[in-house]
Amino acid sequence: MNILVTGGAGFIGSHLVRLLVNKYPAYQIVTFDALTYAGNLANLKDVMAAENHHFVKGDITSEQEVKAAFENYQITDVIHLAAESHVDRSIEGPMEFVHTNVVGTVNLMNQARAYWKSGEGHVFYHVSTDEVFGSLGSEGFFTEVTPYDPRSPYSASKAASDHFVSAYYHTYGFPVKRSNCSNNYGSNHHPEKLIPLMINNILNKKPLPVYGEGINVRDWLWVEDHARAIDLIFHKGAIGCNYNIGGWNEWRNIDLVHELCKIMDEELGRKEGESAKLITCVKDRAGHDLRYAIDATKLFDELGWKPDITFEEGLRSTVKWYLENQDWVKEVTSGAYQEYYNNMYNQR
Ligand code: NAD
Ligand code: DAU
Repeated sequence: MNILVTGGAGFIGSHLVRLLVNKYPAYQIVTFDALTYAGNLANLKDVMAAENHHFVKGDITSEQEVKAAFENYQITDVIHLAAESHVDRSIEGPMEFVHTNVVGTVNLMNQARAYWKSGEGHVFYHVSTDEVFGSLGSEGFFTEVTPYDPRSPYSASKAASDHFVSAYYHTYGFPVKRSNCSNNYGSNHHPEKLIPLMINNILNKKPLPVYGEGINVRDWLWVEDHARAIDLIFHKGAIGCNYNIGGWNEWRNIDLVHELCKIMDEELGRKEGESAKLITCVKDRAGHDLRYAIDATKLFDELGWKPDITFEEGLRSTVKWYLENQDWVKEVTSGAYQEYYNNMYNQR
């Protein structure tokens, strides 16, 4: 197989590329990534030189660049992760999300259809999010048949791309698979997102900006467990399938931030309770979804997947990774990120 992994230099993509490169030496893995602010070749440094790994700097919205990648590497399969991924940025500027997430996905499928001629023997795997299902109250779970109800420009763009993927399956018999996953955490997670942002601010004794009262709930999954699930569905799922992926691991934001403060106090040798003094409730996110929770029973029953790592282990290991990789943090938080951070947080 010659697999094109779009967004392979991003957070989840880089963990997936590492898994595929190491587990399948007979496959050629082609990372296709535009290296936006969110993409970073340092995320792939241990596999960049592997014989079965290739990197292409390219934009999924470009017909020529995607076509050339299919031809140059005789691509047999696609795992599509490239996207604009941050909800707060989508609220500030929705158009880029429409362009990358919707137009980019349709362009990729068009190029794949043209190159593959028939769908026979190929897979186009679309990596999506649980945010397409909207917001839960205090009870219930998202399942594979929960109706779509996206509420942020980000989730609307992901829902639109999911609908196009499904439409290509029904209309053209295009060989798709799809999964919708809950919040990931782990190493190489961009510090615009909750967990790494809080770790960074705790370390630097900066205020910890909790939106609203911190009562919103997210269902956290270790990123390598997500990568394992994608590998499994890619190989074992039926064409046309969709699976929800989640860790049965719900946390209110405020409780999670307290937990991070506790771990950081221990790791940094600070007095218990010292970091929690930095917690600051700030203006809420517009249209902030209250709760996400995934029911991953179908994936467990049909393909035998379950998370490997407990949240306790995963969170501690994540904190340690950030403390030991301050060069990476400094690189991704320098330059334009400072301006983003000031605009985003000074106005709250
Ligand atoms: P990320 O922002 O860390 O990485 C996105 C990657 O896509 C970056 O490397 C970026 O350079 C690349 N990219 C962006 N625009 C591109 C373009 N036009 N052409 C080529 N490459 C481009 O995102 P992530 O958190 O790793 O998420 C990956 C995918 O998984 C996304 O589709 C996202 O919607 C989905 N997802 C994320 C989560 C999560 O918790 N992070 C959960 C469920 C689903
Ligand atoms: O559910 C899957 C989704 O999870 C993915 O599709 C998205 O790509 C990914 O970014 C993530 O979206 P969230 O909006 O849930 O993640 P984020 O880390 O931005 O925020 C998590 C929660 O923390 C959310 O309720 C908002 C809150 N928050 C976030 C930030 C950045 C804060 O309270 N303060 C902050 O500074």
